[in-house]
Amino acid sequence: MFKKAIVLVILCTFVLSMGLAGCGSKPAAQDPAAPAEAPKKLLVGSDTAFAPFEYQDEKTQEYVGFDMDLIRAVGEEMGYEVEIQGMPFDGLIPALESGTIDALISAMTIRDDRAERVTFSQPYYLSGLTIVVHPDNNTIKGFDDLVGKNIAVQIGTTGSEMAKGVKDAKVREFNTAPEAFMELRAGGVDAVINDKPVNDYYLAQTGGKDGKSVGEPLSTEEYGIATSKKTPELSKAIDDALTALKNNGKYDEIYEKWFGK
Ligand code: ARG
Repeated sequence: MFKKAIVLVILCTFVLSMGLAGCGSKPAAQDPAAPAEAPKKLLVGSDTAFAPFEYQDEKTQEYVGFDMDLIRAVGEEMGYEVEIQGMPFDGLIPALESGTIDALISAMTIRDDRAERVTFSQPYYLSGLTIVVHPDNNTIKGFDDLVGKNIAVQIGTTGSEMAKGVKDAKVREFNTAPEAFMELRAGGVDAVINDKPVNDYYLAQTGGKDGKSVGEPLSTEEYGIATSKKTPELSKAIDDALTALKNNGKYDEIYEKWFGK
């Protein structure tokens, strides 16, 4: 009986000292010598001259806008850090196909011809095309008045496609939407065909002195986030993240920040 007690005491002392010794050593995760685990990165392409969806903040040089907030929220939902890669709009789908980028968000309209090359998420924004003319142009009041006119558009866009469908029109394609607006301001073209929210933002920014919107919207379009056909898991993860953001109120928050209620 006495012997048993002694053995027990010795055993306890031993176990206790082991435990204390254990307390002295640092857990591996906190070891400063151990390499920090790099966050998973999502490289996302965008043509970042399309306010209020994607543009560069003049002061901070940071990419800002509705799309930028949305894709960062999508990344956060998925546990990824998002890195934006600026590139020309007509180079986005090729970049996705070649694997240069993981995804793209660029106010890109979901279209069948594009969907043959890339995978689109569920729609995240309802848009359409409108016409912008010089403020003192009183002859162009809608699509039918564009016949035979000079129209500026951004290359590779649905606006460009729409303009090419106008009879006898001379379509001038620019690398970015701001360049198309600049040409209108300079009097080099009669009209710009471009996405309505971007036109409205531009007109509001310039206080209406550089242009006005005429006629009814020419189309109804929906924007989607695109991924490569080769990464179906990523496509699904992005789509699931979008669903989550629509359900948890985060999407509404971002929408209201840029477009109001
Ligand atoms: N929604 C139009 C399209 O898909 C124009 C998009 C242009 N986007 C941009 N970031 N420049 O063709």
